[in-house]
Amino acid sequence: IPGHEHQGPQEVTLEEIRAVMGNCQLCPLGQTRTNLVFGVGNPNARVMFVGEGPGRNEDLQGEPFVGAAGHKLDSLLSVAGLTRDQIYIANVVKCRPPGNRNPKPEEIAACSPFLREQIRSVWPDVLVCLGNFASQFVLRTEAGVTSLRGKLYQTGHFVVCPTFHPAACIYHSDWQPLLESDLAMVGQWLRDNPPG
Ligand code: URA
Repeated sequence: IPGHEHQGPQEVTLEEIRAVMGNCQLCPLGQTRTNLVFGVGNPNARVMFVGEGPGRNEDLQGEPFVGAAGHKLDSLLSVAGLTRDQIYIANVVKCRPPGNRNPKPEEIAACSPFLREQIRSVWPDVLVCLGNFASQFVLRTEAGVTSLRGKLYQTGHFVVCPTFHPAACIYHSDWQPLLESDLAMVGQWLRDNPPG
């Protein structure tokens, strides 16, 4: 099965992908969620951020990264010279795992085709992968983000930046400078590679 890195952009809009998801029940998380958290942001973003899955606040509000991790992300974006209105954000799984447990492999398998379609619709230049689940999905690896981070990967059309999840940096404050240095690298890449 070809992955996103081998497929071209597609004309389907984010609204159309959302409509296809409807009241999704492809995995058991559909039974426990409050809201399906599809994604938010600029449909023409040069940089797309990929998170893990909705937390409690995201589940309640239906938008990604609105809780503590979101505030942390907001404060870090400027390191890459980015604002929230320039980027698109989506998660690997669209529904909150109960108690914020890790998403299960079968939940990721059921949900990730929608992320792949979102990536093909936005067709960003850069994918910033926040944490293990996003990094492993996008880079198709089992390696952890600690060993993956610190450099940019070229996979087909995309430049991929695996980095720590902002929520992890709330608890491991020594990781934050590393996340900042990864985002600074993205900012430099964007300046070195102007659009068009
Ligand atoms: N953590 C994530 O990975 N995604 C969100 O949307 C919120 C917190």
